Amino acid sequence: MTKRKTKAGWVRGALVGGLAAAGAAVAAQRWAASRGSAAGRGISLPRGRAVITGASAGIGEEFARQLAAAGFDLTLVARRAERLQALADELSAAHGIRADVWPADLADEADVAALGQALAAADDLVLLVNNAGFGTRGEFIEVELERTLDMIRVHVLATVTLCRAAAPGMIARGGGAIINVSSIAAFFPSAGGANYGATKAYLNAFSEALAAELQATGVVVQALCPGFTTTEFHDVGDYQNFDRGQIPAPLWMPAREVVAESLAALGGGRVIVVPGAKYRAIVAAANSPLGNPIRQAARAVRGRWRK
Ligand SMILES: NC(=O)c1ccc[n+]([C@@H]2O[C@H](COP(=O)([O-])OP(=O)(O)OC[C@H]3O[C@@H](n4cnc5c(N)ncnc54)[C@H](OP(=O)(O)O)[C@@H]3O)[C@@H](O)[C@H]2O)c1
Repeated sequence: MTKRKTKAGWVRGALVGGLAAAGAAVAAQRWAASRGSAAGRGISLPRGRAVITGASAGIGEEFARQLAAAGFDLTLVARRAERLQALADELSAAHGIRADVWPADLADEADVAALGQALAAADDLVLLVNNAGFGTRGEFIEVELERTLDMIRVHVLATVTLCRAAAPGMIARGGGAIINVSSIAAFFPSAGGANYGATKAYLNAFSEALAAELQATGVVVQALCPGFTTTEFHDVGDYQNFDRGQIPAPLWMPAREVVAESLAALGGGRVIVVPGAKYRAIVAAANSPLGNPIRQAARAVRGRWRK
């Protein structure tokens, strides 16, 4: 389905949804009754549509695979339309779900606004995964300013805009979930990652506060904080020719495990979700009296790929 058709479909859905708006209580009952019924994968959400940004690769693609297997319809967002379409075709054929694509550059204000409008109009949206992101190499003054600002646009501005667009409808329907993909870097401000870590720290603080504000609405919010994850992140942009061997092998996690832990934790009351026992131990230690040496060690690891 093309972006134009997808938009039309969402608007049609919104019209149908509008007729049902007066029945918000009924929707809330349906929501409560259908919790946990999504293919029995421990995902406490009713069936509906999941919108995933950055779905053309890595963690976002893995969210699409696991959510399709659990019976969710999907809207896949990223710049590489052909990859999205191939994934949508594969998952709709394999799982009998409806998968749409929405090509967009989330560093582009107009693209983000258009997607936000579609989210606000969608009457079947149950899950928003703000996952799109990228890294830069080099210290703050070495990275081109426009790349730094694009990172803030993609990680922060797009996420905030899409949360603002999606949440009111979820509240009106009696529930939903938002996953903002942050990073372990949020806990370790490090040379070579000044802007990256800061954008992810923003996502953690924002998600915690938003979760508190939405507590009574049935809408849950999670900030997912993965450590090193085997995706295309370290193959694209500034990271081309990056040697993964610089990072101790036990620290790499497969995207499959990261996503499974995220979905399993949804609705369990935790906002900040750190996948992997090793990483949970590192974060706990960083918050203990041993915090300073741990942070220094993390900075040393992080510093290995400074330019
Ligand atoms: N891999 C790790 O070690 C790691 C660790 C902690 C957190 N994370 C976070 O996990 C998230 C996903 O990263 P990943 O590891 O899965 O990396 P990845 O394999 O490189 O995937 C990144 C995704 O983001 C999309 N994207 C990037 N810039 C975009 C833009 N301007 N507009 C729209 N989409 C854009 C890419 O799609 P297109 O290029 O097709 O647009 C791609 O689908 C990111 O937020 C990242 O910060 C990753």
